[in-house]
Amino acid sequence: MTRILKIGGSILTDKSRELVARPEEISRIAHEISTQPDDLVLVHGAGSFGHIPARKYCLSQEFSREGLRVTHNSVARLCELVVEALGQAGVESLPVHPLSCLQLHSGRIERFLLDPIKEMLKNGIIPVLHGDVAMDLARGAAIVSGDQLVTYLATALQAEVVAVGSNVDGVLVSGRPLPSISRKNLPEFENAIGGSAGVDVTGGMRGKLLELLDLADLGIESVIFNAGIEGNIARALNGETLGTRIRRSK
Ligand SMILES: Nc1ncnc2c1ncn2[C@@H]1O[C@H](COP(=O)(O)OP(=O)(O)O)[C@@H](O)[C@H]1O
Ligand SMILES: [Mg+2]
Repeated sequence: MTRILKIGGSILTDKSRELVARPEEISRIAHEISTQPDDLVLVHGAGSFGHIPARKYCLSQEFSREGLRVTHNSVARLCELVVEALGQAGVESLPVHPLSCLQLHSGRIERFLLDPIKEMLKNGIIPVLHGDVAMDLARGAAIVSGDQLVTYLATALQAEVVAVGSNVDGVLVSGRPLPSISRKNLPEFENAIGGSAGVDVTGGMRGKLLELLDLADLGIESVIFNAGIEGNIARALNGETLGTRIRRSK
């Protein structure tokens, strides 16, 4: 039973400051994950390690070799912090950098070598992926969000649990999390769902929700929950519904 957990960059980093991680949060999350590490793929956001250099080099609009190097190395550093924290918490994981194993076309994942990820899972190792830059057949290069990775991996690995942790209690409408949302009732709430309060070049909550609605269309439901609250990660990994459930339309 494969489970996909995403931890938003808004939890792991200070999204308003370049290269500022939150080591206590990374350590807490690693300990929570260590209570149930089996058959788990971890995806983390890029947070300020990715969004700030990506914005500086205008990577959403322009091709910049230097920008690609700086942004990738920065997110790879955050990934290293996560992998180290998991090791300290007693669970083994390995980085899987999207730049090196997938290809985009017009910003969407077209090919992705999953064999190493599957092999890690078989051998009791948590693959750790992250929002990254990647080569793009149409544009030279583009950004691949952690949220897009979740949708792709959940489909490819037929995940049974898909839990997306962010710094809010779910999809908020008038300050409260919706218990559930589907493509059918999206128009009712669409105006309330926006980008990120921090720097996020991949669309904040709106981008996340659109990815997960695509996943729900393929028959795989997910939850968006607050990973900043202790205990929530374990609950989400158990398949409990907390936060907002992204349902398939009936
Ligand atoms: N309706 C909404 N519900 C929840 N969050 C929203 C909503 N509209 C905009 N947001 C923003 O989206 C942010 C979550 O997206 P993002 O910053 O990309 O987080 P992550 O780092 O988890 O990907 C929230 O912190 C909030 O600022
Ligand atoms: Mg985001």
